[in-house]
Amino acid sequence: MKNRLYIETYGCQMNVYDSRVILDNLKRAGFTEVKSPEQADVLLLNTCAVRDNAEQRVIGRIGELMRYKKDRKDVLMGVVGCMAQRLGEQLHARRKAVDLVVGTDQYGRIAEMIDSVRETGKPKFDTTASDISTYQASPEYDPENNTHFISITRGCDYRCTFCVVPNTRGALRPKDPKTVVSEVEAIVQERGGVEVTLLGQNVTAYRHEEASFADLLRRVNEVEGLRRIRFLTNHPTDFTEETLRAIAECEKVSPWLHVPIQSGSDRILRRMKRGYRRKEYLELVARCREVLPDVSFSTDIIVGFPGETEEDFQQTLSVMREMRYDSAFVFKYSARPGTPAAKLRDDVAEELKGERIQGVNALQGELWEMEAAALKGSRWEVAIEGPDRKGRGFLRARTLNNRKVLVPARDDLGRGDELLVHVTGSQATTFFAETLGVVWKYDRVAA
Ligand code: 5AD
Ligand code: SF4
Repeated sequence: MKNRLYIETYGCQMNVYDSRVILDNLKRAGFTEVKSPEQADVLLLNTCAVRDNAEQRVIGRIGELMRYKKDRKDVLMGVVGCMAQRLGEQLHARRKAVDLVVGTDQYGRIAEMIDSVRETGKPKFDTTASDISTYQASPEYDPENNTHFISITRGCDYRCTFCVVPNTRGALRPKDPKTVVSEVEAIVQERGGVEVTLLGQNVTAYRHEEASFADLLRRVNEVEGLRRIRFLTNHPTDFTEETLRAIAECEKVSPWLHVPIQSGSDRILRRMKRGYRRKEYLELVARCREVLPDVSFSTDIIVGFPGETEEDFQQTLSVMREMRYDSAFVFKYSARPGTPAAKLRDDVAEELKGERIQGVNALQGELWEMEAAALKGSRWEVAIEGPDRKGRGFLRARTLNNRKVLVPARDDLGRGDELLVHVTGSQATTFFAETLGVVWKYDRVAA
């Protein structure tokens, strides 16, 4: 058999979703998936271009995977995803082992491109744009954390000066709301799924001729059998009052908002072309806190953007103190070729970027410790996601607003069950709780 596929995924959840799309397409063309590269006839790397270190990892991995081609000349290696889109043929020029480069809009063509490489012995590249709005993946059987991911948009219409995404994923294209709803229905009916996470570079900018993002949330909320709806990533500028009301009114929709602030300094926000100022961001958050009693926030922060002074950085720390995020993902600025910011001098020393990352993480840890201590004694409803990964006799569960909770394992409890718990303590971002009662039992037979 010549059609064994190995695929490795880097980067965000949208890439994870796209890898499933690719797998679906190749399965239809007669491929089967294998879990280790030595068993494969075709090796694919689905890549990320958002920071330089993500790309360096892939370059390193291509080097490692080359050995499978040394022993067997008929093995093909392909690079797909954002880095493929960004570098195109250059990838083959840099690493001759790469036989196939497929951009983010061309996943429907991979099988045909593999055939062509096999027939001609020549590498094949396609990074052209297409008008596909979004891809669709078949529902998963056993998704991580019991949540089924669905991409609802592709691309982004913003031009944040640091970001490569508009170049690699193109303009914002919404998925038809009917398709989204039918994907959710298939998850519920065919796989017994109870939770979905709607994905997009900027889901808050979702707008289809038939539905706004708020309408979409309302429509998904109506799907019978579904219990929870999460969504990410949000952009502060597109976060409308209508969206806020939909979150408040739809009982299945999670009030966890991942709203990247990137910087607390207006001077830097302007240079990043983020489209909002610190004050506007905080006003939005205050409004969310008014309307959504259980709202929780997480964020992305970039340190060391060109021209970031100590004063700018202190502004980022001070906005964190005002915000009290549940979690903050912090990145060192990485100049991306082709982005507007790449023309600015990358003038914050690497070492200083490292110190600032540590500063953000230390403050986040401190602030969160206080928040977590104040939450001790709370009564929460949680849904079980699976056994504790460290095997300590706990079950992993999560609140609707995305807080992780460990509860003692019990034979009669399992994935999908919903409990009322009493919070007894915490360690880093995980809470410990005792079970007060079962709120809803997941019907495994029906699933
Ligand atoms: N350098 C560092 N971090 C970046 N991000 C996006 N582009 C860059 C870059 N050039 C971060 C942003 C974004 C997250 C997904 O990645 O914080 O929200
Ligand atoms: Fe990149 Fe900005 Fe679009 Fe997010 S909103 S994907 S950071 S351009």
